[in-house]
Amino acid sequence: MKVTKAIIPAAGLGTRMLPISKGVPKEMLPVVDKPVMQYLVEEAVNSGITDILIITNRGKEAIENYFDFCPDYESSLEKKGKLKELKQIRDIATLCNISFLRQKEAKGLGHAVSCARSFIGNDPFMVLYGDDMIDAEVPTSKQMIELYEKYGKPVLGVQAVTREQIKKYSSLDAEKIDDRVYKVKDMIEKPDDEHIITLLSILGRVLLTPDIFDILEETKPGAGNEIQLTDAMAEYARRYGMIAYEFPGVRHDMGSKLGFLKANVMLALKDPELGEDFKGWLKDYTKSL
Ligand code: UTP
Repeated sequence: MKVTKAIIPAAGLGTRMLPISKGVPKEMLPVVDKPVMQYLVEEAVNSGITDILIITNRGKEAIENYFDFCPDYESSLEKKGKLKELKQIRDIATLCNISFLRQKEAKGLGHAVSCARSFIGNDPFMVLYGDDMIDAEVPTSKQMIELYEKYGKPVLGVQAVTREQIKKYSSLDAEKIDDRVYKVKDMIEKPDDEHIITLLSILGRVLLTPDIFDILEETKPGAGNEIQLTDAMAEYARRYGMIAYEFPGVRHDMGSKLGFLKANVMLALKDPELGEDFKGWLKDYTKSL
């Protein structure tokens, strides 16, 4: 079955990005000149997704406004003959079908995903975590959709991380079956030292099937007293098995201040308009460090 739907959960509290996240949703923070959320929507669209549900909460209206038409701004640009800019802002509102749903309480990523049950119906779907940006030559979601078509099982986007990092993420019990591809038997969220299985961790992208919703309904609050998507996926993996894909490319943790800064530097260096000037300045600047 073709994968055409995606969920982008963006209803987290953004505690690690305070104080800015008090006033601006972390998903709307810029990387060079676009908000994180636009990179995610573009990745989905470039992977064949036609319908996206963004899970938001109170205070994240800026996300909805960004993907809407903006008549006042558009007519000012038109009057001034700034047609390139006009096209640029109208294109954002027509990238694909985007709907919004509020998670009324931040009860965890698993709970946020379960809010999307009626939007998903009986279809397989991508989940792009709202604060994980991946800079890859081929969109990561596209590669994962191809693997789903090949193996017929849910696919987890993973990368190897350090022992220190894995304690904050999840650790997979996985066996390699092909280049970058693993069979997943189990996983554990935020393991302590003795519970680390491998250093492979789920980072920002999962492709799931609707059977996950029944499991999510039975899932009790886990780490941080939140309903953890990983706990539900672990149960799924134990019952039916899953696939993990060690995706190439750089993953930026936009929910952390360091991740946000690194993403801006790395993408600014690649920017067709700013890249050369920025590189020159950065080289000079680093000499003074
Ligand atoms: P995170 O745990 O990284 O986001 O969740 P957070 O809760 O905002 O982070 P901190 O710890 O407070 O800084 C991963 C993704 O799941 C979403 C987040 O918005 C993020 O995109 N999420 C998390 C929800 O949509 N709802 C929740 O209840 C929790």
